[in-house]
Amino acid sequence: MARKLISFKKINTIFKKDEPIFDEIESFVSKYGLEVSPGKIDAKNLSKIGKKLGFFNKVKTSKVISLFTTKGGVLKTTIGLNVARAAAISGMKTLVIGLDMQGDMTNAIVGTPLEDEKEDLQKKLDEENSLRGLHDFYQGSCHLFDLIQKTDLDCLHYIPETPELILLNDHINNLNRREFWLNDKVISKLKPMYDLIVLDCSPSWNKLTTNALCASDLLISPIECKINNFRNLQIFNQLISEFKEDLRINFYNIFVPTKYSAQKRLSRDIFDWYQDNVEHVSKSKLSECASCEEAMALNKSVLETKPSAKSAVEIKQLLFEINKTLSKKTQHSSDSYNGVEQSHDFVR
Ligand SMILES: Nc1ncnc2c1ncn2[C@@H]1O[C@H](COP(=O)(O)OP(=O)(O)O)[C@@H](O)[C@H]1O
Ligand SMILES: [Mg+2]
Repeated sequence: MARKLISFKKINTIFKKDEPIFDEIESFVSKYGLEVSPGKIDAKNLSKIGKKLGFFNKVKTSKVISLFTTKGGVLKTTIGLNVARAAAISGMKTLVIGLDMQGDMTNAIVGTPLEDEKEDLQKKLDEENSLRGLHDFYQGSCHLFDLIQKTDLDCLHYIPETPELILLNDHINNLNRREFWLNDKVISKLKPMYDLIVLDCSPSWNKLTTNALCASDLLISPIECKINNFRNLQIFNQLISEFKEDLRINFYNIFVPTKYSAQKRLSRDIFDWYQDNVEHVSKSKLSECASCEEAMALNKSVLETKPSAKSAVEIKQLLFEINKTLSKKTQHSSDSYNGVEQSHDFVR
């Protein structure tokens, strides 16, 4: 594969907060001898610089983030991919597990294969059938570590979604600890290998979703700045509160306003309403933005493809908030539940 180079200028735009950071970049580049042509390093070494200048403080223990809300198309997978890639270029060993039978996260990471006219059908079918997912591991037909796939970033791995997730969902429903299969058999085994695990859920309230929540330190739920989200949001908040209480688990949750449009008054008003009335709403939002969509089509984060875009700046703010939350004393599901931090109030 051809070597991809990345300039100091781009590295500066990706990682800078307020002021340019050329001095820091140059000092790390010379310390590790990374410069391969004037003002450029090999892109695969970005995570070495990111470890020092990136978006995440190295967390002491591995953390798990879930992306879930009961609505589709609200940018769950988009936020998941952007957070995972930002973590990976920050030198965090990151694993993404897709839990949506539609396979959106797997497509977001590796893209949909192009239909090549010359391609042999049998070869394609063999390739398709050789892909293993969580259901194969559940059945005992492969080892958990066999599911892990590499990506173009050395710190980013993933477990692909396969159509058999629907069977897995059905099968775990019959287990005794049916909400904890993922945590007990998968996440707890993988945590020693990763700093961050990102779980991308479907919009359905199914067993894969409840398993993801039971394994999570943080739930990120996008809420569109659109009028049809209000009622959904209220019900969703009740669902999560009752679920935490019933299962006696705890995790942080933040709502992220998405598809914001500064040109639309209603969108601005809804965003302000969220800020004033919704508990745990993030200050950062994700605007409607073509650059962000383009980045998804290229299987990259917008930070990498267009770091100066509005959505890239917003993602950075969101990463700051996520990092702050993950750095707090853990509130994980396995910790004893005290109920004190729980709130059933949707409106502050
Ligand atoms: N900032 C953005 N503004 C508008 N659309 C976006 C933006 N970022 C991504 N998209 C597109 O929106 C669609 C839905 O996003 P997705 O993350 O798949 O939603 P979900 O996972 O909640 O179903 C995708 O086609 C995605 O490329
Ligand atoms: Mg999705």
